[in-house]
Amino acid sequence: MANFSLTTPIYYVNAKPHLGHAYTTIIGDALARWHRLMGDNVHFLTGTDEHGLKIQQAADDAGLTPIEFADTIAPQFKEAWAKLNISNDDFIRTTEPRHYAGVAKLLQACYDAGDIELDVYSGKYCVACEEYFTDEELEDDLCPIHKRPVEYFEEENYFFRLSRFQDRLLEWYASHPGAMTPDFRANEALGLIRSGLRDFSVSRTSLTWGIPLPWDSKHVAYVWFDALTNYMSAVGYGTDDERFNEWWPVDYHLIGKDIVRHHCVYWPAMLMSAGIELPKGWGIGGWLLSGGEKMSKTSGNVVNPLDLVDDIGVDGFRYYVLAETSFGQDGDFTYEGLLTRYNSDLANNLGNLLSRVATVVDKKCGGIGPSPAADSVLATAAESAWQDTAAAWHSLQPSKALEATWSLIRATNAYLENNEPWKSEPGEAVDRVMGDALEALRIVAVLITPAIPQTAQAVWERIGMPGQVSDQRIPAAAAWGQYPGGATVTKGDPLFPRRQLPA
Ligand code: ME8
Ligand code: MG
Repeated sequence: MANFSLTTPIYYVNAKPHLGHAYTTIIGDALARWHRLMGDNVHFLTGTDEHGLKIQQAADDAGLTPIEFADTIAPQFKEAWAKLNISNDDFIRTTEPRHYAGVAKLLQACYDAGDIELDVYSGKYCVACEEYFTDEELEDDLCPIHKRPVEYFEEENYFFRLSRFQDRLLEWYASHPGAMTPDFRANEALGLIRSGLRDFSVSRTSLTWGIPLPWDSKHVAYVWFDALTNYMSAVGYGTDDERFNEWWPVDYHLIGKDIVRHHCVYWPAMLMSAGIELPKGWGIGGWLLSGGEKMSKTSGNVVNPLDLVDDIGVDGFRYYVLAETSFGQDGDFTYEGLLTRYNSDLANNLGNLLSRVATVVDKKCGGIGPSPAADSVLATAAESAWQDTAAAWHSLQPSKALEATWSLIRATNAYLENNEPWKSEPGEAVDRVMGDALEALRIVAVLITPAIPQTAQAVWERIGMPGQVSDQRIPAAAAWGQYPGGATVTKGDPLFPRRQLPA
């Protein structure tokens, strides 16, 4: 069994989870589930980023200590992910001892390599980003990401000599084409490296809420140095070498475009300094916008994903997130868009197919599913559907994967419309059509498992298949002709009742 590991960013605990966090986490979950379906041994990691000035300030505002504050927010992320059916294998909090051990080890390794040195730094700092900006990078003196005023800081800090890594980073990326995806986001990251690299401070003396430097405990680690290390500390770096060697390097870091500099520039340089292998891949997502602005806690235009789940169901919400925008591009969240997608793809295409098939099998086949024909025209549609679905997941394009899967749903609906089995007398001709449609639905159930796992299981059960659809393995389960004739097909309530668009 091949190992496949992937990570989401660890989210700041300055406020509760919003739709933007759910976005990246759902994509990660679907990819993790796809790889489990492929038979891989998967490790899917998420967690929370709990140190630094931003959290310290949020805690101060709430009248709590930072750890008391983090202890109120971290469980809300866990609960949100449980409600969204996120199948993470681990959840790391940067306040855990295993993480402290990993950060101390990586800091020491970079220090011993001579890449961390004491220096004085002054500049303009955005607390929301936990990042310095040059005057050229500011827009009207505001942070270009959060559109908020920056603060002037001057500190004696330890610096990571990022400037030494420009050539090595460019060479590494040149010899690992496709490591960052999609291409246009990779080019943005390479542009950052080409435009020249500034050393960055890896310690703070102005705050105490962080991990002390192992060689100078007056300083705490810069929150980004601390946070990035979670990807390794969670799999044993600093505590369990054997486990670390089993799981590192990671296959994919999924991130938003707002944190490319940290993940595609700082992080690989830190690893090079410490002599550690670089990640195999980075998936760089765009932003979900709300009214044209990045949805963010700092901007205050957030949509609560749990409200949407209560409204449209967990799979309705997951489907929208995965299908609506092409990975890497920005997408604009609107409630109308959510309902429109739900009605067309889930209620009309998938929901209708299942209810039609169950109704005809009930009326014309006594509720017992006939077996499929080996030479069905749908066999070809099924073959290309699963091939294209697989290729799209493997190139990190969830919206394309779903389009490919939906091509089989559409082909099956068209097949029914062409044959009109509801008009025929019971008999061989109807049995043949319905056996093919049930077999197509069996394959659809397998292919939708990563995106909408509850629905996949519901379809599986309604067509009379035993056990858990998530225990199926591709490619074997995608091969045509396995629906066992004689299974009981259940009509049941519509999986996705149609929704009225607001007036
Ligand atoms: O940056 N659209 O945490 P964070 C799409 N702690 N994705 C969005 C989004 C939006 N509107 N808003 C947030 C941090 N995201 C650091 C990360 S990792 C070592 C440390 C997603 O809470 C997206 O993946 O600000 C983005 O990169 C991440 O949440 C930032 O979450
Ligand atoms: Mg942010």
